[in-house]
This record gives sequence, C-alpha cells and structure tokens, in this order.
Amino acid sequence: MNTLIIGMQWGDEGKGKIVDALAPSFDIIIRYQGGANAGHTVITDKGKFIFHHIPSGILYPDKICIIGNGMVVDPEILLQEMDTLREMGIEFKKRFFISDRTHIVMPYHKSMDKGRENLLGNRKIGTTGRGIGPCYVDKYARIGIRAAYFKDENRLREKIEDNVKGVNRIYKTYGLPPIDVEDMFDSYRSYALKIAPYIHNTTYLMNFYYQQGLNILFEGAQGTMLDVDFGTYPYTTSSHPTVGGAFIGSGLPHKTLHRVVGVMKAYTTRVGNGPFPTELAGEEGNILRENGKEFGSTTGRARRCGNLDLVIAKYACLINGVDEIALTKLDVLDGLPQLKVCIGYEYKGEIITEIPANTEMYDEYKPIYKTLPGWDKTRGITKYEDLPSAAKRYIEEIEERLGVRISMISTGPKREEIIFR
Ligand code: GDP
Ligand code: IMO
Ligand code: MG
Repeated sequence: MNTLIIGMQWGDEGKGKIVDALAPSFDIIIRYQGGANAGHTVITDKGKFIFHHIPSGILYPDKICIIGNGMVVDPEILLQEMDTLREMGIEFKKRFFISDRTHIVMPYHKSMDKGRENLLGNRKIGTTGRGIGPCYVDKYARIGIRAAYFKDENRLREKIEDNVKGVNRIYKTYGLPPIDVEDMFDSYRSYALKIAPYIHNTTYLMNFYYQQGLNILFEGAQGTMLDVDFGTYPYTTSSHPTVGGAFIGSGLPHKTLHRVVGVMKAYTTRVGNGPFPTELAGEEGNILRENGKEFGSTTGRARRCGNLDLVIAKYACLINGVDEIALTKLDVLDGLPQLKVCIGYEYKGEIITEIPANTEMYDEYKPIYKTLPGWDKTRGITKYEDLPSAAKRYIEEIEERLGVRISMISTGPKREEIIFR
C-alpha cells in the first residue's frame, strides 16, 4: 500500500512523527515539495531529530530516502543536516538520493525573500526566510539552477554568472552591494563536490523501485491550507503540499499511490500571517501554546493557536482524497473543561461551509461552534479502549462530520505514544 502523508491544516500537524511511525512498513520514503521551510520532528530514545530536507525515515538504516524533483534544496542547510545525522551514526551511502531536477536555493533567494517581506510591512506573509518563494519563482521563470549542474562545473558557473547579472540589477535598485560571482561560485562548487555523489535521475530510479514492488511512503511538507492554489493565498508557501504535488514532485504516476493519510492536529495552529477564523488570541490560545509546546521547529516562532476547524478538515479531505486520518496531539487538550469544534462560518448573516478564494473576506468569517465535553487524561495511552469516553466522543464526532476514519491517534511526542486502531 504505497501511502501519502499529507498535512490537513497549516503545517506542523505532526507529519514527522506519523512518517516515523509508518516507515517500518515501507522501503522508500520520498519528500516531494518544499525545502528547508519544513521542520519535521521525530523523537526516539536516541533523542530529538528535526528534519528540514531529509525524509523522516532516514533513522531506519534499511530505508531508502529520496529528495524528489519537486523540492528546493539549500545545500548549506542540507550538508549541516547530513553532518548532524552522521555524527549520530547515520549512513547515507547507497540509500540517499537527490533528484537531478531539484532546484537549488541560492543566497540571493534568501535575501530577496527577506527583502520582499520588509517591503510588504504589516501585509508580510511571515515566511520562514529560507528563500523558498524566490527559488520557485526562478524555477517557473525557467532561470533556476538544478542539482544536475552540481555535476557540471562549467555550466554551474555559467548559470551563476547569468543569474547574478540579473540579481545585481535588482540589488542596485534596492541600494544593496553587488554579489561577487567568484565568491558565490567557490562556495557552491564546494557544496557541489560534497553533494554530487547523491545526485541521480530519481525519476527512473523511483519507477524502477516501483516496478520491483518496493513500498513507497510519500512525505508531504507544509499543509493543505499552505498550498499555493488551494490555501489562503497569498499567505501560503510556493509549492503544492496537496496530493497532486506528490506526482509532480516525484515523477511517479498517480496509479502508484494506494492510500492517503491526512495528518490533523486535534486543534489548529498556524505560523506566520493570514486568516485563521478559529484563532484564540487570548489566554485560551496561550494554554494550547504552552501545553502543545507550539513554537516553530524551523524558526522558533510562537505558533498561533486555536480550535479545531472541521470546515478546513473537510476541504483537505475533498482535495486530497483522504482515506484515513492520523489525529495528533490529542493529549494537548487534556484537562480542558470543554472543547469547541468549528462546523461552519457566519458571514453577513449567511452560513458558509466553503473556503473562499478571496482571502481578505475569509478574515471576516466568524466560526460557528459545536461544544463537546472535555476529558482528564489521554497522554501516553496506546489502546483505543483506554481513552476516556469524552475523548472517544470527540474522535467519533470528527469521523462522523468528515466521513473519514481516524486510524491513528497520537497521544504524546514520543514514538510509542500512539494508538493504531
Ligand atoms: P510536522 O512539521 O508536521 O512534522 O510537525 P512539527 O514537528 O513541526 O511539530 C509537531 C510538534 O508536536 C513536534 O514538536 C512533535 O514532537 C510534537 N508532537 C507530535 N505528536 C504529538 C502528540 O501527539 N502530542 C504531543 N504533545 N506532541 C506531539
Ligand atoms: P512543515 O513541513 C508550518 C509557512 C510560513 C509562512 C508561509 C510561507 O514543518 O509543516 P515560506 O517560507 O514557505 O515561503 O513561508 O508558510 N510555512 C510553514 N508553516 N509548517 C511548515 O512546514 C511551514 N513551511 C512554511 O510560516 O506562513
Ligand atoms: Mg513542522
């Protein structure tokens, strides 16, 4: 059962933990979009790992891990990630491959990312500052630098020279000092030498593995509401975390996928700006942030917290064809007297159950809630029958409203704190 793990909200749903839980049943784990904006946490008895580029399955020594063509890779951060894992005894040879079509994040992508945010002022997106948007812009403008050039020094130099000419013109209008081509080429040549052994034509490789009958786990980054088409545009990322992204970003045809697992937090969080109808700005939000340790895995920023929004969840099921849900962080709700789930919105006297394209309008939607009883403790529970009845009621209410089964329930950050139903 080749399986896709997808975020159903605004990212940070606990995808890393679910990938880690499912990885033992798979041979290959592939990331297909995004880049170092992602931060996927896995906690084992060896400690805490936060993955930015590398699939969360790398901790299992027999798994093949792939960086798909749909990703954008920051070589400096990738090499740091690899070094940290090597120090912990993780081996990359013959089991870690980077697509030669992957786009490379350059230093000017990062400065443009930050520069644009500054220009936007209070309308800024609140990006991770990792150069993701500008790198995808260059990809679609067809001037990007692909990993294939890490194996072709002359063309790498030519590409850097061409792009730097254009960038320096923009820098001049911003009053920034020009980039020195030689400095940039020198540092990228040294990254290229280290990364080149892992670069492959993964399109053929993945299809070969599929034909050999190896099991594939697709690891989505970000979440449905951050999708550049389906999310709260322009307050989104620049890639497709949704189901279609998995095919575009891996080179595998759609029939290779058998199962879609949507990962959903038992409440909602979001980092950065943009609409969030069920946000709890006051003390209630602080309680969720503290209980859930809701601080960004990549940037350390405090995450905005709020109630579970089932309009969003329904939308994520619709777009992605979610077959089953992994509900995470249920334990964070332990001890709350009652819980509210959003089942629709009110806007100018009307009841709305769809996500609008006009994002500014979405800001004015007021959630309509159903209130459910709270429970005492779920932390660490590993059997469904051991859950308090109010927690079961919460889970069953979600299932009924979405028409999708919750097959996994995470009750704590550790590997073993999970219920398989
Ligand atoms: P991802 O980006 O979707 O992989 O999620 P992140 O790793 O950015 O954020 C999820 C955070 O919640 C991490 O710190 C996890 O260790 C933690 N976490 C995951 N599942 C649970 C859970 O069931 N309960 C609690 N309390 N923490 C969890
Ligand atoms: P994982 O994979 C949560 C958010 C940023 C910002 C917007 C655009 O860990 O779930 P970008 O740097 O991509 O241009 O930022 O998207 N964002 C994430 N939020 N989890 C993520 O990844 C995110 N990746 C990007 O905060 O609002
Ligand atoms: Mg994260």
